[in-house]
Amino acid sequence: MLVRVCSLLDLEDKKPRKFSINGIEVAIVRVGDKVFAIDAYCPHKGRNMEYGDVDGYKIRCDLHGYEYSLENGELVLNPYGKSSGWYFSSNLRIYKVEVKNKDIFIQI
Ligand code: FES
Repeated sequence: MLVRVCSLLDLEDKKPRKFSINGIEVAIVRVGDKVFAIDAYCPHKGRNMEYGDVDGYKIRCDLHGYEYSLENGELVLNPYGKSSGWYFSSNLRIYKVEVKNKDIFIQI
């Protein structure tokens, strides 16, 4: 189902913004003319990704520094170099985005 989230004009460049859509919390990130939709919470320990730092097409969680691709959600940096127990993180969930006439829709 394609659902409207907001207008392109509601977003600042590289500043994630959280929205609740039909009970699903997503963060929308605009990088130039590209728009990404990700789970609003970090898959490591649940930090609000609205506070993440965007660099290119990557987002870095500000709590422990894990980085995820905005394009496919892949974990691209685990600063601890360990992946078991507390250090484990799955990839970041992403949603398909469509932009039509400055309106942003996501597939949920
Ligand atoms: S909660 Fe995001 S990196 Fe740990």
